[in-house]
Amino acid sequence: MKLRKISDNIHYVGVNDRSSMFFEGLWPLPYGVSYNSYIVKGSEKIALIDGVESSYAREMIASLKSENKDGKIDYLVINHMEPDHSGSIPQLIALYPEMKIIGNSKTIQMVQGFYHIENPDLFIEIKENSEISLGDLTLSFIMTPMVHWPETMMTYCKEEKIIFTGDAFGTFGALNGGLIDDEMECGIYIEEMYRYYSNIVGKYGKFVLNALNKISSLEIDYICPTHGPVWHSRLAEVTDIVRRLAAQEPEAGVTIVYGSMYGNTGDLADLFATELNRRGIRNIKVHNATVENLSSIIADAFRYEGLIVGAPTYSNEIFPPVKNFLDAMKIREMRNKVVASFGNHGWAPLAAKAISATLASMELDDAGTVAMKQSMNAATADEVSVVADRFVEMLTKK
Ligand code: FEO
Repeated sequence: MKLRKISDNIHYVGVNDRSSMFFEGLWPLPYGVSYNSYIVKGSEKIALIDGVESSYAREMIASLKSENKDGKIDYLVINHMEPDHSGSIPQLIALYPEMKIIGNSKTIQMVQGFYHIENPDLFIEIKENSEISLGDLTLSFIMTPMVHWPETMMTYCKEEKIIFTGDAFGTFGALNGGLIDDEMECGIYIEEMYRYYSNIVGKYGKFVLNALNKISSLEIDYICPTHGPVWHSRLAEVTDIVRRLAAQEPEAGVTIVYGSMYGNTGDLADLFATELNRRGIRNIKVHNATVENLSSIIADAFRYEGLIVGAPTYSNEIFPPVKNFLDAMKIREMRNKVVASFGNHGWAPLAAKAISATLASMELDDAGTVAMKQSMNAATADEVSVVADRFVEMLTKK
């Protein structure tokens, strides 16, 4: 990627990854992803904020060299140690042996653990509100643990009103020419923010809220995350999306997640969708967990206020793709939802009860469950209608 400016003193030296099929080996990347890195040029010192994934170090270093022709980097600030950002540390140290690594105590332990870089003279340990002067620019540090790892922090430059937020405010999608939000169509990046947040950071909502609270009093013109566009024109919009997701304040809409072997449980999913639509629900997302990647299903389940889950009994368990989804939602401590469930069985009536019990263990508002035997009949259709009535009533009162 060609070098891009955020301001006269702050330039982008990140890279695009359009080759990896999965982020963290788990989450699909249909639009790629960017690993963002920034160079901050003070009148006396130069700092690099975060690195890139190791296989993209060559590309990043080429940008750095073209930007930084006198060949000096004084500091590498590490806001986050996940290897999609820290992987290039060994190459950067080899290129700039005088460069100091700035991080908190956990960061430094992780640099040593991941990359076997032990020399204590390389590190400058900072704490909450520590400041480093670059001459006419100052970097200060805000500890934001568990957004997304324990060492995560943010770096603020008060003179430029720019904050480097690590994974917070990040999104999937390579940068296709533009860098700052007002230079591009942002639809995909905004949409992918729901998937990115729910998949990667979803478990850590209270920590994200703490971080948002900590930075709320800062004057901010630009948010520079480690993935996706630099936010400027859409600061309020993206802050609201992240805050709502972190607080689990869902939007209007219902997600139906199901698995089906021969279509009978699928009939139940379709009937629920139809009954909800008849009752005025317009935003309904139906996901077949067998054929769809968990990533998008988690995103919708996180985003919307209603969730209905159904599966057949399989080897006296919940059908595995749906069980997998329920596990993912438990891990993310899902709350603030109206839920319902349905199950189908040939002879062992486990699924409906087990799904309902799993949802109950998450203390969600349960509108009820429908247990079907083998295939749809009039009695089952009546039960769906009763649960749909209750579900919509509970959504309306929410
Ligand atoms: Fe983009 Fe948690 O690393």
